Formats: sequence, C-alpha cells, structure tokens
Amino acid sequence: MKALITSGGKGTRLRPLTHTQNKHLIPIANKPILHYAIETVAAAGIKEIGIITNADSDEVPRAIGDGSQWGVKITYIPQESPLGLAHVIKIAEDFIGKDPFIFYLGDNMVVGGVKRFVDAFESDQVNCYLTLAKVKDPERFGVPEIVDSRIVSVEEKPKHPKSHFAVAGIYIYDYHVFEAVNNIEPSARGELEISDAHQYLIDHGYQIGFSEITGWWKDTGKPIDLLEANRLVLEHTDPKIEGSINGKSSLAGNVSVGKGSKIINSNIRGPVVIGENTVVENSYIGPFTSIQNDCYVRSSEIEYSIILNKCKVLDIGIRIESSLLGTDVEIVKSEDKPSTHRFFIGDQSRIELV
Ligand code: DAU
Repeated sequence: MKALITSGGKGTRLRPLTHTQNKHLIPIANKPILHYAIETVAAAGIKEIGIITNADSDEVPRAIGDGSQWGVKITYIPQESPLGLAHVIKIAEDFIGKDPFIFYLGDNMVVGGVKRFVDAFESDQVNCYLTLAKVKDPERFGVPEIVDSRIVSVEEKPKHPKSHFAVAGIYIYDYHVFEAVNNIEPSARGELEISDAHQYLIDHGYQIGFSEITGWWKDTGKPIDLLEANRLVLEHTDPKIEGSINGKSSLAGNVSVGKGSKIINSNIRGPVVIGENTVVENSYIGPFTSIQNDCYVRSSEIEYSIILNKCKVLDIGIRIESSLLGTDVEIVKSEDKPSTHRFFIGDQSRIELV
C-alpha cells in the first residue's frame, strides 16, 4: 500500500498566517501539522508516500525533505492550482499505479492511527473505505447518508445534511477510484469534488466500507480548529524539561521546556510546551499553550494559545487567550500618553478586544 498526502491549497481561512507560511507547516504542540500525517502513515507500515504540493512553491519539500527521518520515501507531486481533491488523485495516478493507497488530507489530525482502517479495508475487500466522524456542523464537510448500515449517498457541504457525520480526510482506495476521478465533472465552485468521486463509486456498484473514528479527529481548516488540535495533542504529551527553571517559578501538570529556555519567576500550568531559547519572566502561562523558539514573554498572561517563533509579549495587562500569534509578532505595552490601543498589523489580520 502507498499513501498520498495533501499539502496544497491556499489556506484562505487561516490568513494572515498563510500569507507567509503553508498551512500544513503551522505547528501544533510545536511540530508542523504535516509531520503528524507522515508519522501516522509511516506507523501503519507504509513506506512510499506521495505529497501533493503547490506547484509555485518549494516550501514543503524544503521543510520535509526526502522522508528518511521517518524511514519512508517521499515523492513530491506538484499541482498547478487547487482544482479539487479528486483532481489531486487524478494527477497522482502515475505515482500510485495499480496499488491500493491511503489518501490522507495533510490538514487532518487523528489519534489512534490509521492501521485499523487499512486492516479493515483489506479484510472487508472493499474498493473504497471511508472514515466518518460525528460533528456538530456537518454542512462544512462531505456528508454521508446511511441506510441499513450502508452509505447510499455522499454530498459535499450540503445545506441540509442527511446525517450528523463528516467524511473525515482519511480515505483508502483501490485503483477503481481513477475511473471515478476521470469521469466526474467540476462542481459549481469549479473543483473536482472528492464527494462526487465517492458518489460515482456508489452509483457504479463499487463496494464502500466505512467506520466511525473513535478517539478524536480534527480538520484544522480554521483558527479555532488549530487551537483545539493543539489542546488535544498537548493533552497526550509527556513532560520534558531541558531548559532552566528558577526557584521562584512553579510548574504544574505536564510542562515541557526546551534547551536554552529560561523560566524566571513565573507560574506555568500545563499542559504547556515551550520550545528552545525562549524566556518567560514574571508571567503566567496557562493550560493548552504552545510557545515556539526564541520568544520573550515578560509580565504577561497567556492561556489556550499558539505562539510561533520569535514573538515578544511584554508587560501586557490583560490575559491573552484563544490567540494565535504568527512568527516575529510583538505585543508590547507602551508608557506613552494618552492611553490608547495602537495597531501596526498586516493584511487580513484580526484583533478582538473583549
Ligand atoms: O476534512 C475533511 C473534509 O475535507 C471532507 O469532509 C470534505 O468532503 C473534503 O472536500 C475536504 O473539505 P475541505 O473544505 O476541508 O477541503 P480543503 O479545501 O480544506 O482541502 C483539504 C486538504 O487538501 C488540505 O490539505 C488542502 C489540500 N488541497 C485541497 C485542494 C482543493 C490540495 O492539496 N489541493 C486541492 O486542489
């Protein structure tokens, strides 16, 4: 079995972060989202992975490399523009050949691995295996209609969903999926939809297996999804202290502090992960926070947030919460009068004063 992982698309719902960074490289618990996808597929014993990239950027190949760090061989497959997930499969036909393959959307995260689905695909001898997850907002996803324990239809982002399930971004196919992707037409939004490929397989009598994902699954399409994924991953991480903690600091719960980092007179309540060469001084860092490398947090409070490399949060009188700071962001207190808020921020940023 091979694997096909996506890292293309524009990540519009995550702007401005995605103006300067591919969304699949945004860190969750200080590790790029795409690493989780590769690790999950490698843990299922798959050695050959194709990664779909935006043709106009070599950011992902540069960041990920040839796969040797995971014991796999990675082949990059450039996509001219994001023409849909069925289009992704179409352009991977030469790489996949006649092998069965797992199609893993690189912005999805799942706990518990995918080996169980690969095993079910093989033992059930189906042509296509879908994974389903119960969600509150099925209209954001591909939605199956299930009758007598069989999937009888799949609709992409329906206004009136026929079940409470999302088809999660982890699919397994045999080569018949190429017949489907080569015979469907673009949707009203101009994409070759994966849900239409699934409907084609159903209509043409191919066998569709499925199971519900237990544990958790996240599609990290929106900022709140990233914070939730970060929370869920941090809940499962073990503490590791490599930096220094001074005597007046207190650590509670699972806290990791990387090499060269210093925690000075601060209160850290885990789960929290702090990267390398970051200083936290006279501050409170609360649960479900990730702070990357080379940051400086002074006299401030941060909780349930993701802070990327080289940020400075200095002397802020209010608690920063449910926030995502991109690389090299500064939030600082000024003593100037009159008291006011001053913003110097890039395109499509969002600030909430609560
Ligand atoms: O997460 C599950 C959902 O993923 C499914 O329920 C939907 O049926 C499926 O269409 C998909 O919906 P999204 O709206 O979340 O797809 P998105 O456009 O965000 O793309 C998912 C991944 O594929 C992401 O890694 C970006 C990448 N991509 C997307 C397109 C359209 C590409 O690499 N190339 C593309 O052409």
